[in-house]
Amino acid sequence: MAAQRKPMMAANWKMNKLVREAEDYAAKLLPRVADSTDEVDVAVFAPFTSLPTVGRMTEDSAVMAGAQNLYFEDSGAYTGEVSAPMIKDVGAEAVIVGHSERREIFGETDETVARKAAKALEAGLIPVVCVGETKEERDAGGMWEKVSGQVRAVMDGLDSPSGDSVVFAYEPIWAIGTGETASPEDAQEAIGQIRGLLGELGGEEFAHSVRILYGGSIKPSNAADIMAQDDVDGGLVGGASLEADSFAELVEVARQSVAQNEDDAQERMVE
Ligand code: PGA
Repeated sequence: MAAQRKPMMAANWKMNKLVREAEDYAAKLLPRVADSTDEVDVAVFAPFTSLPTVGRMTEDSAVMAGAQNLYFEDSGAYTGEVSAPMIKDVGAEAVIVGHSERREIFGETDETVARKAAKALEAGLIPVVCVGETKEERDAGGMWEKVSGQVRAVMDGLDSPSGDSVVFAYEPIWAIGTGETASPEDAQEAIGQIRGLLGELGGEEFAHSVRILYGGSIKPSNAADIMAQDDVDGGLVGGASLEADSFAELVEVARQSVAQNEDDAQERMVE
C-alpha cells in the first residue's frame, strides 16, 4: 500500500445474517475497531434487511455502512429493486457495484454496472466497483481484456470522479470463496495495471489517489502479504468477514500496514 492513500477494509456479508445477528456483530465490531478508523476506513456491506440496523448502529462511529447493490433509477415501477436515495435514507454511505456474483448469477452487464456506478456517485454514495476475470479467461490469456473492458465501461459513465469518491476492487472470480487467493505478486500486477489504465482514463491525480482493493479468499493469515503490495489499498472480504473477530483482525492487519509504511518512509528519509 502506498502512503498517500488511506486503506479500506470492507466486509461483504453477501446473503447472510438476520437482523439480530447483524446487531450482535456490530456491537462486537465497533469497539474492536474504534482505535483504527483514523488510519483505516472500515466498511460493512450488509443485505438490505439488516442495512438499517447497521446504518443506525454505525451512525456515531467512523465505520461505514454499505449496501451490496442498487438500481439506477431513483423511484418508480421497478418491483423488487432498491434505489440510491433509499440506501442513503437508512444511513449507508457506500454501495458495492458489479460484484461478480451479480454479473454471473443475475446477468448484470458492463452497461448496467456502469449505470449503477454513475447513479451511486451522483447520489453521493461511494461505489465500490468490482472487476475480475474467470479462471478460463485467465488461462486463455484474456484476463486484461476482460478487466480493462470492465474498468473502461464504468469510467466512461462517470463524470470526472475524484479519487475519494469511488473505490475499485479487483476480485479474480476463481479466488472468490474458493480458498485460492491470487498471489500477492499477481494481485499487485493486476491492480498496478488497473491503476495505469485509470491514469489514462481519469488523469494521473485520480489514479494516484483512488483506492483499489483486492478481494478473493482474504483471511487474517494471508492479508499482510497482500496489503504490503504497493498498489493494493485494502480488501473486500467475504467469508472471513462473517465473524466480527476475524474481520477486526483484518482491520488490524491494514492498520499495521500503515505503520509499516511510515517506518519505511522514515528509513528512506534517514538514508
Ligand atoms: P471471499 O469473497 O472473501 O469469500 O472470497 C470476496 C468477495 O466476493 O467479495
